[in-house]
Amino acid sequence: MSNQPKILVAGGAGYIGSHTAVELINAGYEVIAADNYSNSESQVFEGIKEITGVEVIHEQVDFAVASEVEAFFEKYNDLSGIIHFAASKAVGESVENPLLYYRNNLLSLILIMEQMIKYDILNLVFSSSCTVYGQPDELPVTEQAPIQPAESPYGNTKQISEEIMRDTLKANPQLKGIALRYFNPIGAHESALIGELPTGVPANLVPFVTQTAIGLRDKLKVFGDDYNTPDGSCIRDYIHVVDLAKAHVIAVSRLVENKNNDAYEVFNLGTGTGTSVLEVIQTFEKVSGQKLNYEIVGRREGDIEQVWADTRYANDVLGWKSQLTLEDALRSAWKWEQKIRS
Ligand code: WQD
Repeated sequence: MSNQPKILVAGGAGYIGSHTAVELINAGYEVIAADNYSNSESQVFEGIKEITGVEVIHEQVDFAVASEVEAFFEKYNDLSGIIHFAASKAVGESVENPLLYYRNNLLSLILIMEQMIKYDILNLVFSSSCTVYGQPDELPVTEQAPIQPAESPYGNTKQISEEIMRDTLKANPQLKGIALRYFNPIGAHESALIGELPTGVPANLVPFVTQTAIGLRDKLKVFGDDYNTPDGSCIRDYIHVVDLAKAHVIAVSRLVENKNNDAYEVFNLGTGTGTSVLEVIQTFEKVSGQKLNYEIVGRREGDIEQVWADTRYANDVLGWKSQLTLEDALRSAWKWEQKIRS
């Protein structure tokens, strides 16, 4: 029986969840992972074991199904905290199937917070997104920027989830929570033993880049070069997934060790640097040593023009700052793509 503090990683087989599980173990936590495997595979735990030497306890749970959630917490409730990643995250899919997103993303949070109250599990770190800002009026965007009407049901579920969290924490002062607003997570663990496993055709830029480079896709479509940016393509804040994972360890430790200033805190997790789509392509070609086949096409519905994070609050209050570069992230993404296709 380990006396390490136990953390539930809901969505622990997923891209960010699995990388966070590694960093939690490295920091001395015991990880309980739970996932419904709708967008992940349980083989990821073999990779985590190879990296950390630890066999992570993992259960199949659909956090949007009350009976499964209740059964899980009946078995595992001596938890120091929960990091909740378990949600659907494809913007385009959310437009086609909004009810799936409202059900999955909102009900999972509600069911988890109900169990926190029931079992006195006091600490919650929630996976939010910079999508809540829409197209900010000012850049870089701070946590105080106005929340704009969501551009997609996915983005709306993040906005509503933050409100559910805020109101529930206010009504239950024994609980504490942190919402982390991610910018664009990319890359993979340096070992290439875990990484992003997009199912089907990737919606996100970097997996599409690496799949094109390895020959799985014929060419990358660049969605527009007529934006009001230096090279005309959209700008985003691409953050290495390992930096993102380390921020989650700091956030949950902040709550477990009662270092939080308020019951509900929100932090941007980005690098503070904006990078255009064409710059990502140029950087990828540099790190991979090969030309990428791409074509400029029309804009993608719902895309905002440019966004990158003001990271001062997370730097100063969490004591966290991204360490890895865009080159590190793209090099690791390419190494991972080559590994899984070998
Ligand atoms: C980035 C840029 C595209 C694909 C979304 C969610 C966000 C988060 C990350 C979950 C844009 C361009 C993309 C392609 C392209 N989701 N692009 N060709 O839309 O910034 O953010 O994913 O955590 O919450 O909103 O990410 O990678 O889809 O797009 O030109 O084949 O790359 O137009 O400018 P996005 P993305």
